[in-house]
Amino acid sequence: MKVPVRKELAGNFYGSYLIGNEEIKEVTEVLKSQSIFRYYGPNLLGKTDRFEQDLMKFHNVQYALGVSSGTAALKCALKALGVGTGDEVIVPAYGFIATAGSVVSCNAIPIFCDVDTSLNLDPYDLERHITNRTKAIIVVHIMGVAANMTHIKSIADKYGIPIIEDVAQSFGGSYKGKRLGVIGDVGCFSFQANKILSTGEGGALITNNEKLYKRAKIYHDQGAVRIGNSFPNWNDESFFGENYRMNEITAAIGIAQLKKIPTMLNKLKRQKLLLRKIINRCDINYRSSWDDNGDCGISECFFVEDLDKRDEIIKKLRELGINAHGYYSCAVYENKLFLNISDKYNYLDKQIDSEKKNRYKTGDCPKAEKLSRQAVWIPISPLYSDDDIKYIGEILKKYVT
Ligand SMILES: Cc1ncc(COP(=O)(O)O)c(C=O)c1O
Repeated sequence: MKVPVRKELAGNFYGSYLIGNEEIKEVTEVLKSQSIFRYYGPNLLGKTDRFEQDLMKFHNVQYALGVSSGTAALKCALKALGVGTGDEVIVPAYGFIATAGSVVSCNAIPIFCDVDTSLNLDPYDLERHITNRTKAIIVVHIMGVAANMTHIKSIADKYGIPIIEDVAQSFGGSYKGKRLGVIGDVGCFSFQANKILSTGEGGALITNNEKLYKRAKIYHDQGAVRIGNSFPNWNDESFFGENYRMNEITAAIGIAQLKKIPTMLNKLKRQKLLLRKIINRCDINYRSSWDDNGDCGISECFFVEDLDKRDEIIKKLRELGINAHGYYSCAVYENKLFLNISDKYNYLDKQIDSEKKNRYKTGDCPKAEKLSRQAVWIPISPLYSDDDIKYIGEILKKYVT
């Protein structure tokens, strides 16, 4: 077997690996202008406005708001929708804690919905969670692969419940020809260092709904209504907010990164197809997909039937230079923060159900619990050559099938 071209483990970075002269040039311009705040400065270049316009164009959408993180984008989206104390927001039971955490930070209650074998929200489990307190559904497109949006949207529309798409892990992906983030009511992105488009920290939200955009903008800017680059103004439209503003340096990196995304995603998609071709006839239980064409190609994922073997396989793959991971090894609500939520977030139980302790428990979403313990993730790095992919393929053939 060929020796791996890249012996060290490539990290789980995408856009970060592509940082080069273009980002340096953009950032240098901002520093030279001495104007690093988005709304004013000695010689403001308006990079944040420009980045928002580029995001709008990329997604063919009417509004974009740059913010300070993916979590900030989710919080602004929830606040724009009026989510507050005691409201319920349906979230998938598999994924990163930030999604459900943003709901808790609004004093609202995350209601966990099970996932299907795409590891995204399962529409067949959705309807039973809808109550008259449901204010929103957050769909997370995990690691480059879209959720079953047709079915999810038909249920959300039936009940008139807005959808927030958490696209933190799937920038540039699509579903049935539509970019992720524009299918629901609001799309939220993270530009943290591990993301497809990376500015270190940062985020954005996009929408075609003017009212939601205006409210998100007010919330992200201390409740102020700001026209253009004027000073903030608090008027009848204002409500208390926080500071989640994007700065000019972040936006400058974003402008340069966005130009690189199409080429990077094309390469990653090609590499994922090559990998699948190599292990074509092998008996591997892949993560399913609702739209192969829209897959960002940033990862491969399969399930190991024997739960005890998962960690062994990951260890072996890592010894052989393959950057395998278990990622989320339990359902989100199995995190201690949620299991103990009645102690820590008393208001939830006081307001909604004073009898009910331990709102969340193992067994709530059986598929998320099982699949999270079975999944093996192989990130596909933009640094991989065809030979690297062939090497990964041969190793998988040997040790996984
Ligand atoms: C699915 C998901 N949502 C939200 C976030 C939060 O993004 P940030 O770290 O930029 O706040 C992340 C970040 O890892 C994520 O993976």
